[in-house]
Amino acid sequence: MKIDIYEKVWMIGTGTMLAVFFSVIAYESVAMGRMPPSHVETIDPKTVMADPRFSPQGVRVATDGSVHAHVVGLMFTWLPGEMTLPAGKPVTFHITSIDVTHGYQIVRTNAQSMVIPGYVSQFTTTFDPGDYLIVCNEYCGVGHHTMYAKLKVVPEAEWQAPSTGGTPVPPAGGTPVPPAGGTPVPPAGGTTAATPEASHDH
Ligand code: CUA
Repeated sequence: MKIDIYEKVWMIGTGTMLAVFFSVIAYESVAMGRMPPSHVETIDPKTVMADPRFSPQGVRVATDGSVHAHVVGLMFTWLPGEMTLPAGKPVTFHITSIDVTHGYQIVRTNAQSMVIPGYVSQFTTTFDPGDYLIVCNEYCGVGHHTMYAKLKVVPEAEWQAPSTGGTPVPPAGGTPVPPAGGTPVPPAGGTTAATPEASHDH
């Protein structure tokens, strides 16, 4: 079979390009652990609100100091509606939906992921200080255009690690630290002698 010289050039050229593209994808996924943000982890959409991964929603600090944002999407809002995160520090997002497919997008950043019921989308990114708008970029129903949330990114030194996120874990080897916000102040004019019930009140 005779193949025209130009035909040959095109075949070899496109073949080489495909080979390069596939090697780059293979290298990034294997060596750099770069994966699509969706379908990492599964979850029952009916139990999301009771699941410890999403109850409560919002910002948490793991025992290793890493910052995590746990977000739930539903028609037609993101929970929580407002978050504050530290600038220049990697933040890992865990996002799921309790109803239909939504699209989580933090405008003017590279934070973007499809949010599919039954799956937990996950990605890690860092932010510059500023106020950001979070929108839904996947049509999800009549209220799609009203589905948004706010993100505030402040310098790390000004950032207050949230105390929500379950039981505070004492630092390794150290003494337990009181929760942020200081010691509770007894009510003015109240009894000074605490009753046994009051002393057990958490
Ligand atoms: Cu949610 Cu569009």
